[in-house]
Amino acid sequence: MSEWRPDSWRTMPIVQVPTYPDQVEVKLVEEELSSFPPLVFAGEARNLKSQLADVAAGKAFLLQGGDCAESFAEFHPNNIRDTFRVLLQMAVVLTFAASCPVVKVGRLAGQFAKPRSSDVEVKDGVELPSYRGDIINGIGFDAESRIPDPRRMQRAYSQAAATLNLLRAFAQGGYANLLSVHRWNLDFVTQSGAGEQYQELADRIGEALSFMEACGINPADVRQLQGTDFYTSHEALLLGYEQALTRVDSTSGDWYDTSAHMLWVGDRTRQTNGAHLEFLRGVSNPVASKVGPTTDPDDLIRLIDILNPTNEPGRLTLITRFGADKVEDYLPRLLRRVKSEGRNIVWSCDPMHGNTLSAANGLKTRPFERILQEVKRVFAVHKAEGTYAGGIHLELTGQNVTECTGGTAAITEDGLSSRYHTHCDPRLNANQAIELAFLVAEALKEERKALVDDAAA
Ligand code: PEP
Ligand code: CO
Repeated sequence: MSEWRPDSWRTMPIVQVPTYPDQVEVKLVEEELSSFPPLVFAGEARNLKSQLADVAAGKAFLLQGGDCAESFAEFHPNNIRDTFRVLLQMAVVLTFAASCPVVKVGRLAGQFAKPRSSDVEVKDGVELPSYRGDIINGIGFDAESRIPDPRRMQRAYSQAAATLNLLRAFAQGGYANLLSVHRWNLDFVTQSGAGEQYQELADRIGEALSFMEACGINPADVRQLQGTDFYTSHEALLLGYEQALTRVDSTSGDWYDTSAHMLWVGDRTRQTNGAHLEFLRGVSNPVASKVGPTTDPDDLIRLIDILNPTNEPGRLTLITRFGADKVEDYLPRLLRRVKSEGRNIVWSCDPMHGNTLSAANGLKTRPFERILQEVKRVFAVHKAEGTYAGGIHLELTGQNVTECTGGTAAITEDGLSSRYHTHCDPRLNANQAIELAFLVAEALKEERKALVDDAAA
């Protein structure tokens, strides 16, 4: 393979690029960004990689989630707090069920650029360029909004910096105390209307906490109970922006993309001869790739060779997204192939992107049942193949939106329009997300138990 540089992607075939009217301005903005402070530190990305190595080894579980697309309009401390809070609530349930650490990674503080199936959007006979995320153009359906504006990269950077600052404060400043998170879960159980179904698990977590307290283990003196590690991630789609934030780490001499701890390549940009893989292969962050129905096993091995040639555990996460009814058709042969080649992989399940459909009123939605079903089927396939389902990747928000149908609140297709706020794909709302964690907990517990039993045998 030829030598890697932060800009070597520029000579490779690329898809999903915005057409900026003024290239000189793009260059000026990118130069300015490259002089700005890094958003994350290389040491943090290495810590995440080592925690993901534990996931690859079946000793931990990955929970990754947040908006499909962050937006300038929804930038508010309460939104950041509520998404963070939901992820923590889910993590406590999953940690207890799996009896193993849960690695928490937000789709947050940089998840702004969106790949689109079509370059244009047509509404009432009017055709305009597609919305590509707030870092590129505006969502308003008018010609002016849809013109890509490089200055949006500066605003995205500032928003990511402020978001990350608040997340760091929440994670370590007392808000993420384990006892508070458990109390929020109790509120969920009493208020969600799903009470009884989840009461037992919540009670058991409460008992475990009381037992620990009786033994003198409490948040006042145990650091692990006072706060949590929390990492950020986004799709590395807008490569000019990513390149501008890519720096040499003075400790190791390696390149890191300091826009987030973890970066992934999407289902539309994972071509093995393409610019996006070329960029990602050279940065030392933990990286991921989506894997979909069009992923061929040979191609997947080529992708692994490019992104993780040294087979470093924790370096590469594969996020499968087939659709609930396609899991059995596609996942087994990919798992078999990767396993037979002895590759160290974190296998995560994105049950969102293969389960999107149009409701009768034209809104994009995802049925809660199908999301849950994809997770359960993925767990079952991993079990049958002797591989480890190491994580879930979700689109969710802490707000009480109505974007996915179903769940205990039984959101119907007709009810979708009441609080439909997403800038891109439909997200689970706070209650649906926590409910999913309770429902996945059972499957996870079984998987973990089988793993521990196997190890003892
Ligand atoms: C996404 O994660 O928002 C996304 C666009 O997913 P995919 O690349 O899997 O379609
Ligand atoms: Co999405």
